Amino acid sequence: MKKIAVLTSGGDAPGMNAAIRAVVRKSIFQGIVINGIRRGFHGLVNEEIEPLGVSSVADIIHRGGTRLHTARSDEFLTAEGQGEAIAFLTREKIEGLIVIGGEGSFKGANVLDKAGIPTIGIPATIDNDIPCTDYCVGFDTALNTVTDAINKLRDTTSSHERVSVLEVMGRFTGHIALLAGLAGGAESIIVPEVSFNLLEIRNRLLRGLNRGKLHSIILVAEGAGSAIEIGRELEHLTGMDIRVTTLGHLQRGGTPSAFDRILASRLGAKAVDLLEDGQSGLATGYLQGEIVATSYEKVFSEKKQFSREDYELASILAN
Ligand code: F6P
Repeated sequence: MKKIAVLTSGGDAPGMNAAIRAVVRKSIFQGIVINGIRRGFHGLVNEEIEPLGVSSVADIIHRGGTRLHTARSDEFLTAEGQGEAIAFLTREKIEGLIVIGGEGSFKGANVLDKAGIPTIGIPATIDNDIPCTDYCVGFDTALNTVTDAINKLRDTTSSHERVSVLEVMGRFTGHIALLAGLAGGAESIIVPEVSFNLLEIRNRLLRGLNRGKLHSIILVAEGAGSAIEIGRELEHLTGMDIRVTTLGHLQRGGTPSAFDRILASRLGAKAVDLLEDGQSGLATGYLQGEIVATSYEKVFSEKKQFSREDYELASILAN
């Protein structure tokens, strides 16, 4: 393998830069020429390429976002766009591509793989919704951002003896809400994986009030419903003073945690090793303490486990 490329795609996640750095420096260490594709699959279709050297990834390990920029490309979803991307990679003599992103990005990588361009995926999304890895790059940082937001909300919520409803990201899943709720001691956690009943949440709030609890935090995963509507409904049901906060894209930014940087560095190095070994069609991951590689097919056919155990635990501890 003489020449490969790397891109970041989909929603950015803290630690993507650390992954780019690892891919670039490991490639160069192994004598492979490495190029960056800007703006994800959009950049592949539009031929946005840059050679990357050791210094081009200096001073980025601690930065959120992605140095290569990212995009959600409609063009690449068409057969024509895919044909242009394949022709471009072939013309550039790119022998392998490393795709850093979520499951949608791996689907794009799979198209190229099937067309004969070896690809390896690095899971990076704050949603942590990719199976075959316990952690995706960016999840830990987002979790800490949400936990910090809960701490801050708790100050004002307890001062005013109110209820705060906090909406967090996660797309169709509740992994961020669950673990941030556990870490932040949220009184209720509403996620798409578990059906919920506002009357039960109301009863829980009233039980708390009766035993002298003067404030509560309710976490809502965006995939489970709108925090604004849930807050309005609960205010109506309880007569309590309720405020709603939507954390939004704040969750995607910030300095990556040490955990995310280390994970990104290990997965980046592994991706280069896999390509050099002649392997392809694989997503790297971190499972039970091991760096592993799993076929895209397996990743696509499975669903990331939602921990009912942690959900029950959070509920018991917040009682
Ligand atoms: O996948 C990451 C994510 O932040 C989701 O949690 C959220 O639903 C979505 O991306 C938001 O996308 P956009 O940045 O396009 O608004």
